[in-house]
Amino acid sequence: MCGIFGYTGGSQAAAIVLEGLRKLEYRGYDSFGIAARGESIQVGKKQGRIPEEGFDIKNLAGTAAIGHTRWATHGIPDDKNAHPHRDCTGKIAVVHNGIIENYALLKRGLVDRGHRFSSDTDTEIIAHLLEEVYKGDLLAAVQAVLPLIDGSYAILVLAEADPRIVAARSRSPLVVGIGDEAMFAASDMTPILEYTRRMIVLEDGDVACLTPAAVEIYQKGSRVRRNEEIVRWSSEDVRKGGFRHFMLKEIFDQPAVFSDAVRALRKEELPGIIREAGMVTIVACGTSYHAALIFKYLLEEQCRVAARVELASEFRYFPPPLEGLVIGISQSGETADTLMALELARLRGCPTLAIVNVVGSSLTRIADASLLMHAGPEISVAATKSFIAELAVFFHLVDIMKQGAWAHHLDSAHRAIEEALLLDLGPAVACCSQAKDIFFVGRGAFYPVALEGALKMKEISYIHAEGYAAGEIKHGPFALLSPETPVVAVCAPGETYGVMASNIREMKARGTPLILLGEKDDRDLQEIADVFIPLPSADTVSGLLSASVILQLLAYHTADALGKDIDRPRNLAKSVTVE
Ligand code: F6R
Repeated sequence: MCGIFGYTGGSQAAAIVLEGLRKLEYRGYDSFGIAARGESIQVGKKQGRIPEEGFDIKNLAGTAAIGHTRWATHGIPDDKNAHPHRDCTGKIAVVHNGIIENYALLKRGLVDRGHRFSSDTDTEIIAHLLEEVYKGDLLAAVQAVLPLIDGSYAILVLAEADPRIVAARSRSPLVVGIGDEAMFAASDMTPILEYTRRMIVLEDGDVACLTPAAVEIYQKGSRVRRNEEIVRWSSEDVRKGGFRHFMLKEIFDQPAVFSDAVRALRKEELPGIIREAGMVTIVACGTSYHAALIFKYLLEEQCRVAARVELASEFRYFPPPLEGLVIGISQSGETADTLMALELARLRGCPTLAIVNVVGSSLTRIADASLLMHAGPEISVAATKSFIAELAVFFHLVDIMKQGAWAHHLDSAHRAIEEALLLDLGPAVACCSQAKDIFFVGRGAFYPVALEGALKMKEISYIHAEGYAAGEIKHGPFALLSPETPVVAVCAPGETYGVMASNIREMKARGTPLILLGEKDDRDLQEIADVFIPLPSADTVSGLLSASVILQLLAYHTADALGKDIDRPRNLAKSVTVE
């Protein structure tokens, strides 16, 4: 949800900021822009994605600059609404990630006082409010304006006569990178890793002043110290590494991601609250929600722990009566709905646990304890390796609760992912890429796998796809089955295999093309399937992993066959920091 990046140092800043924005584009790509401070503040901005060539930064001279890549909330994606935004004098420039909830009221006041607005954004009010109080000290001006603003923000500000970049955050992520005679500030670490691994994750309410030599952080007007962290991620992790898309690279990273996650978790001090949990409630969104549904099956079936999973966006407004442990799961650790849901659980007195991928992310600050999923930076908007890393965390927790009974699964499961990566999905892709609608079905823990398969398909190929519990199809959706509507079914062996086989036959009788994932020696499935995809290994752990990977690849190759922009699906952005 919008990316911001600032640099101050000894080099021409606009070029560094432009490169940084390319790395942040996955957070939003409706428009982009840069403000540089030379003798005056100069701004260049444009609707659309950052072009490989042709965006002229010659006029943006100076060694301090701030930039923005936008996911539109207030105002359509066009040149005028692109950030940075300036005040009436053009001497103050602001970039912002977040939403200012009281902007309409503030804007009316500013207009009444004679300010002229050049955009429809909420952000522009910050520039005009600063204009009213700025008397040559940008830090003081920002500190005076922030209490007027309700909502979420991570902002970077430049002023013509001030040598600093001033940064501030409240409910939107902001990281400071400490370089060699250079300072950086960004929505996340990805654009900074090129230059330094020394990071400070700012806290809500922090205001930071950056000069090339130092960063000073203030909270409620007083200077504070924040711990510096040396992050493990490297700049290599945020490159495509020879793959055509980040999504494909991240899918192929998954055997290593799984093994690394298991290895790292074994070293981690696991919070005691998991072992003591009588009842577990899990809150999450999107792909993390689907992973959480798998966790519920595992907890209940394997560990006899009662669990329920709630969509974070619903839970926040309609929380059930709460008892026991509440777990928030989020790759980014910045998803607004999940943050608010966990905060609510905390306020209700429940112990809380965050399972996240990003060190120091907001969810870890709310929760009593945190577990890292160790997936490395995920750049593709469509989540893949974080899903597999989430499963690694769950399998590991189950293993602990079962006193090591799953250790052999954990050690060998990466092989199932490797084998899944080698499968030929050509016939399945050919079938899906002609379809307008596709159903994905499964039962038990494979039902969420089907939900996730459908989500992947719709978000990157734009084919309408629905995930269903296989037994539910006959309660309505059957009306939609036809020779034009393929069904992708995960038919893992186990208790429900027999009913699943009957469900599939019922669908076949309607002429529906069947793409079946099943045990490799399953003759019955092979006979009935239009396309049969063998699961490399069908025990619960390997089956869940390999089926998930196959459905990721099916979505990827279908979208690729249709020529879609896989890493930047329309209307989407990574890390949904607004409600
Ligand atoms: C889908 C996808 C989203 C996210 C969701 C939650 O591919 O990426 O559905 O899973 O926005 O994000 P996190 O896990 O960061 O809370």
